[in-house]
Amino acid sequence: MNVLGIESSCDETAAAVVRDDGTVISDVVASQIRLHAPYGGVVPELASRAHLSAVVPVVRGALAALPRGLDDVGAIAVTNGPGLVGALLVGLQFAKALALARGLPIVGVDHLVGHLFAVGLRRDGVEPDTLEGPFVALLVSGGHTALYEVHAIDDVRMLGQTRDDAAGEAFDKVAKLLGLGYPGGPLVDALAVEGDPMAVVLPMGMPSRASLEFSFSGLKTAVVQHVRKHGVPQSESALADLCASFQRAVVEVLVRKSVAACEATGLGDLVLAGGVAANRGLRARAKQACERAGLRLHVPPPASCTDNAAMIAWAGALRLARGQVDGVELGVYSRAHLLRRGRIAAR
Ligand code: KG4
Ligand code: ZN
Repeated sequence: MNVLGIESSCDETAAAVVRDDGTVISDVVASQIRLHAPYGGVVPELASRAHLSAVVPVVRGALAALPRGLDDVGAIAVTNGPGLVGALLVGLQFAKALALARGLPIVGVDHLVGHLFAVGLRRDGVEPDTLEGPFVALLVSGGHTALYEVHAIDDVRMLGQTRDDAAGEAFDKVAKLLGLGYPGGPLVDALAVEGDPMAVVLPMGMPSRASLEFSFSGLKTAVVQHVRKHGVPQSESALADLCASFQRAVVEVLVRKSVAACEATGLGDLVLAGGVAANRGLRARAKQACERAGLRLHVPPPASCTDNAAMIAWAGALRLARGQVDGVELGVYSRAHLLRRGRIAAR
């Protein structure tokens, strides 16, 4: 069966068709980056309006890969939270209308759960890593940073989260401070490749492995103070050094606590998820640390890390396989229930 996934929780309008074995048949993402860039962040009302005009062509684009279009779709999965309410409603109402008109089952997907299972997608004929048992997942996105113990699509346990900024948010704020542009993560990543991570001494937030919580606001303040004292680096190499030093401070603490979470839970598989998992420094450092600790590391390709609808379709397929379906009463929610401590019935 093919599942059509629709995602509109933030600044990407996305639609994808995924087979129920995880094979990605199509994956269309319309980014609103250019729309929000002048404001240095996402403007909710502009996002909703852009989703409205993009949703039909984006879904059409995803369906074009199927010989019989919608006739080849067996179910619709849609992100119904967390995210911007106005933005989420565009995708959800569209999905409901389509499901009603075609008599298709509809299933709501939690955006964060989508990220956690994106590692199971088969893209371009590449077999995904087999993950049969439970695993630890580090979710690092623009809005969330947390560690989870993942047992099944409806059994996800939060181990610890950030007390203040999300990792992606820290990347974006530092990039803004340095005048690099928005979103900052990929720009800092590119500059960091050229820089010396030991050039600027910056503090790591909550570095102790004894706690699985994170904090990035102190690090961000340290970068602000560095810039106040020395100005924004003018030479390309000084800018690269500052980016590399900042990135190292973020990555080091993310990796350290991910390994600690595996040790605390006794699980041998670590999955990286979310937009920041596309970061080259994080991927390299996690690989090294997992090899040393005897852990298996699973990192989705960058297209599965950043926001996309294939992960939504896939998580929807996993819910459907467990007999979970929603109806027209399905609503949206803005805040993450996946950030509650303990076991949650994820959706
Ligand atoms: O998961 P995502 O696409 O959207 C959310 O659900 O938030 O994550 C977006 C975040 C942004 O903060 C962006 O700057 C960051 O992921 N990001 C990166 C990289 N690519 C995206 N951060 C660091 N390095 C990257 N290569
Ligand atoms: Zn996301």
